[in-house]
Amino acid sequence: MEKQMLRACIEKLKRNGKLIECHVPVDPKFELGAVLKYYKNEKPILFHKVKGYNIPVVGAIFGNRDIYYEMLGISHEERIFKIADAISNPKPVRLLNYGPVMENIIKRNIDITKMFPVPTFHEKDSSSFITAGMLVIKDPETGKRYISIRRFQINGSNKMSILIASPLLKGQLERLEAKNQPLEVAVVLGYDYSLLLASQISSETYGIDKYEIDSALRGEPIELVKCHTCDLEVPAYAEIVFEGVIPPHKREEEGPFGELMGYYGEKGMHPIIEIKAIMHRNNPVFQTAFPCREEHLSNGLIREVETYSNLKKLVDVKDVNITVGGGCRFHAVIAINKRAEGDGKSAIIGALSSSNDLKHVVVTDDDIDIFDMDDVELAIATRFQASKDLVRIKGALGSGLDPSHRIDGLTDKLGIDATKPLGEKGKRFDKGSIPGFENIDICKYFPRRKL
Ligand SMILES: Cc1cc2nc3c(=O)[nH]c(=O)nc-3n(C[C@H](O)[C@H](O)[C@H](O)COP(=O)(O)O)c2cc1C
Repeated sequence: MEKQMLRACIEKLKRNGKLIECHVPVDPKFELGAVLKYYKNEKPILFHKVKGYNIPVVGAIFGNRDIYYEMLGISHEERIFKIADAISNPKPVRLLNYGPVMENIIKRNIDITKMFPVPTFHEKDSSSFITAGMLVIKDPETGKRYISIRRFQINGSNKMSILIASPLLKGQLERLEAKNQPLEVAVVLGYDYSLLLASQISSETYGIDKYEIDSALRGEPIELVKCHTCDLEVPAYAEIVFEGVIPPHKREEEGPFGELMGYYGEKGMHPIIEIKAIMHRNNPVFQTAFPCREEHLSNGLIREVETYSNLKKLVDVKDVNITVGGGCRFHAVIAINKRAEGDGKSAIIGALSSSNDLKHVVVTDDDIDIFDMDDVELAIATRFQASKDLVRIKGALGSGLDPSHRIDGLTDKLGIDATKPLGEKGKRFDKGSIPGFENIDICKYFPRRKL
């Protein structure tokens, strides 16, 4: 039985009753995305019949927190420590001579949209998009490997553009362009929960080989094979790999594209990839990601680790929720064990300094469940006074995914200290409790009811 990558995940999701299978034909243009969105992008769906193709499509597999933990084999409570441990203790990869992804190698007559069911999601999207592609590159100067998820607009039979937000990769491209050199790339479809999580670590912050973080996270070496036409390594059990180059000085129009916050990203001139070869497994499964906040959960999980680590130096932080509602980047809710007056404000400062993207922070005591928004609201409603507990910062840097920032080029930051006072005054906030409630056996009272 396979243990690594997408096919192993699909099997496990099936076994655990977490996969919905659709046997009705769906159109990759709009219809497939509409079905994914109907289930809020949180229910993994395998579309067996995609109109015009004999390749199934899987989507929405990474959008649900509980499923993510289950598939990684970690609990909510231990996640921050396990991920931090993997980042600090990378483990070696295993390079194989052969892997299933090499079952088919195509070098001629490449026509991406004829071969694969690449979806179009929103009405005004400029083209169909590969939204779940994992970019693999090597810095030609240092030989260091980098992996990350990017979006790829289909521009022609063997051509796609790539949207790069990361300053590190932009810098690498600029240095190569100065020497008039191309950059070899591979775009991988068919990865799993562990590799996606590892890919979301920032290269700028850590500068480590994310495949090695993946090996540490999955508890065994990730198995890789060499690409066919370039000096790059890709997962042996991936479904599809596009190999090619980013030629220097070439730009093509990209966008508009309905992005994760639900707004269209603007048109712009972006680098392109010329595809030279495609490797794929027999009967490949095409992996897609509806462009939505839920699909960025993996990114939010990494941000929770980073915010937690930043706060650890300042306060007794208990947990961090980088909310999906805030696009897994704009909003943090933080639970602390308040030990001194001022801890709430320190936590706001610590959180806001952990990422430029973070815009609004709520700090609560640790008797509040920060993953239950009703409980968070209770803290804001009853423990927060705007005249003394609100922190406002004008005109800071923000994220281009927030249109209000994009218009002004600057963003305001806000912190809400919803912690209760310490000492005698704090007693007013003791919550009522019912003896025996925690261990109540509810089935005893409703024996015939399916709960
Ligand atoms: C579903 C999904 C789509 C993403 N799309 C893009 C994208 O189009 N462009 C981009 O620069 N980053 C995108 N990201 C974020 C990067 O993959 C992420 O920030 C990564 O850590 C960057 O790695 P780097 O620091 O090595 O550049 C996406 C992430 C996810 C989960």
